Amino acid sequence: MGAVGLGCMPMNWAYTGSRRRGEESLRAVHTALDRGCSLLDTADMYGPFTNELLLGRVLKERRADAFVSTKVGLLVGEQHIVANGRPGYVRRACDASLRRLQTDRIDLYQLHRPDPEVPIEETWGAMAELVSAGKVRALGLCAVGARATRRDGRDGLHAGTIRQLERIQQVFPVSAVMAELSVWSPEALAALLPWCAARGVGFLAAMPLGNGFLSGTLTPGQGFEPDDVRARHPRFTAEMMAANQPVVAGLRRVAARHGADVTPAQVALAWVLSRGRTVIPVPGTKHERWAAENAAAAHLSLTDADLAEIAGLPPARGSWD
Ligand SMILES: NC(=O)c1ccc[n+]([C@@H]2O[C@H](COP(=O)([O-])OP(=O)(O)OC[C@H]3O[C@@H](n4cnc5c(N)ncnc54)[C@H](OP(=O)(O)O)[C@@H]3O)[C@@H](O)[C@H]2O)c1
Repeated sequence: MGAVGLGCMPMNWAYTGSRRRGEESLRAVHTALDRGCSLLDTADMYGPFTNELLLGRVLKERRADAFVSTKVGLLVGEQHIVANGRPGYVRRACDASLRRLQTDRIDLYQLHRPDPEVPIEETWGAMAELVSAGKVRALGLCAVGARATRRDGRDGLHAGTIRQLERIQQVFPVSAVMAELSVWSPEALAALLPWCAARGVGFLAAMPLGNGFLSGTLTPGQGFEPDDVRARHPRFTAEMMAANQPVVAGLRRVAARHGADVTPAQVALAWVLSRGRTVIPVPGTKHERWAAENAAAAHLSLTDADLAEIAGLPPARGSWD
């Protein structure tokens, strides 16, 4: 599998311009695959459904080049996003994802969010049956979001997620965990990534570019469409974007030391890669140019001085808590 993956979510979900870029998104997927970014991360919820349909158009022709990761367990309702972890639903959702993706097997099937109404072992057991049935190769848990990360009483960061992982490991092996990890959101380094590394569980770094901020291409005060996740994100107010500019400035300084064509986005991805051999950054984009740029980050090696400079950057301002 390539060192860097491709997050497909921004192609038609949660980001400005997401509903207008179908053809360019297809080119971005091809570009990523051409450059060895074989991990394509999607979810039935993205769109909803249209993200998988889009990928299906590529997979129909290039299945052998791709490692397909999709997710189950969240439904887009009229008012809210709701969890459904009932075994019957999981089985139907998997068949529907396979049809949309135009494939007969999903490489990594992730539980998007545990359903509070269903014991996680029941949901995970149904997912394990899909492995036995040959519809899925491996299982993962997605633990993205403030609730998953937040300090859980006195237990520490990601403590609730780790408890869930301990429970489902008793039912069927966890092959990968997806959680936020980036220069400005390093919380997973405290306990979740060490838990994964100690057990040989892969770690998929979601939002490795800080929802685009760490690329340095966003301007404080710029607007976002109402359904863009950043329109409500505390770090994306004009004030916080301005306050967090020193983080981007630090990435720029490091990039400049590696050459005029190296970008802050590539430094941000190389930093994620430097966190361990089992860590795969999964940057999201719908742009061909950025898919190529992100793929090239796999060849950027940060020096000890670079890593020390990044470690010394001020912590990000603005949080969900
Ligand atoms: N956000 C979540 O809640 C979440 C949850 C679970 C899983 N994931 C998975 O993790 C993946 C990554 O997270 P994410 O996409 O939310 O955040 P991200 O990768 O940190 O940032 C995506 C944003 O960065 C921009 N971008 C990408 N490469 C760039 C470059 N080289 N230069 C400048 N801008 C660049 C994208 O722009 P364009 O879109 O305009 O190309 C997009 O706005 C998702 O795609 C999804 O597969 C995300």
